[in-house]
Amino acid sequence: MARKMLVIDDDSMVLSSCQRIFEEEDFNVVITTSPEEGLSLVLDTYFDVVLCDWMMPGLDGMDVITRLEETSPGSAVVMITGYPSIERATEAMKRGAMDYVAKPFTPDEIIKAVDEAIQRKEGEERKVIERFGALTKTGKISLPSIDEKMLQTLSAAIDERRQMEAKPSLEALSEPERLEEMTLAVLNKYARDTNNLIPILQAIHSYAGYLSYETIGLIARELKISEHEIFGTASFYAQFKFEKPGQHLIRCCTGTACFVGGGGVILEAVESKLDIVPGQTTKDGMFSLERVACLGCCALAPVVTIDGEVYGQMSPAKLSRAIDKIYRTESVKSD
Ligand code: FES
Repeated sequence: MARKMLVIDDDSMVLSSCQRIFEEEDFNVVITTSPEEGLSLVLDTYFDVVLCDWMMPGLDGMDVITRLEETSPGSAVVMITGYPSIERATEAMKRGAMDYVAKPFTPDEIIKAVDEAIQRKEGEERKVIERFGALTKTGKISLPSIDEKMLQTLSAAIDERRQMEAKPSLEALSEPERLEEMTLAVLNKYARDTNNLIPILQAIHSYAGYLSYETIGLIARELKISEHEIFGTASFYAQFKFEKPGQHLIRCCTGTACFVGGGGVILEAVESKLDIVPGQTTKDGMFSLERVACLGCCALAPVVTIDGEVYGQMSPAKLSRAIDKIYRTESVKSD
């Protein structure tokens, strides 16, 4: 089914361009020069996307965004403006806009912004569903955190037992062996009860940083449930990862303030340097890359974090140097 788009702008040229561009993209496009009419249209029709000008006679675009958030919270709103500024972009995002595009824009720019806005909105909705799922499954808003001390106690107990059996310590084992030992210890702790599947997965995830297929297979056998059931449950929660994370995590912000400051270019540069896209890890296991919508420090835009450390006013060259430095440090460590 074609997605529906509403465009609110007092400039008829912008309206006709958006209509032409997005009808070619299979959107069902409704246009209006009146913010009041736009707000009454959303009461009768659900629009997947609303493009809204900032400066219009009558209602201010920012107020329109606020009202849209109240009356059509499921729509991905993109603000378009001939007077771009980081402050306005940040304000628009705070009020619920998913992206911010400066006029004049090319068809590719506005299509990309709309695609990203839809993805962000869907991501937000997924998070709400995940939280709701956690609420209904565990009675809590979010998953409880795992007591790191419990993991330390378990690994100390494994070491003690292995020492008595004259076997090498946990640390000396290969990763699959180590994970198997730890998984069995966690399963023992939780008495192999399927009602404890989430805390079991959490404990192993907290220890290993991910859930391997072997780990899921072992839990399935021990709890006598299918791997599919475990995977289905775990994939319901965003916190569980199924691939081993890289040694270093790079998070590139492409939220509006960062995007305006070149966040998209930085992301493209790091993708090309490391030959991965967000969600992937480099073949050598050194870096994982994530794309985020806002890191909460927009004044430093464009922002990147490496292993949690914030790098503001980032540029492709600065990030490239930071990556090279980590590679150099790691190679010295391994010499
Ligand atoms: S948009 Fe807020 S930190 Fe990037």
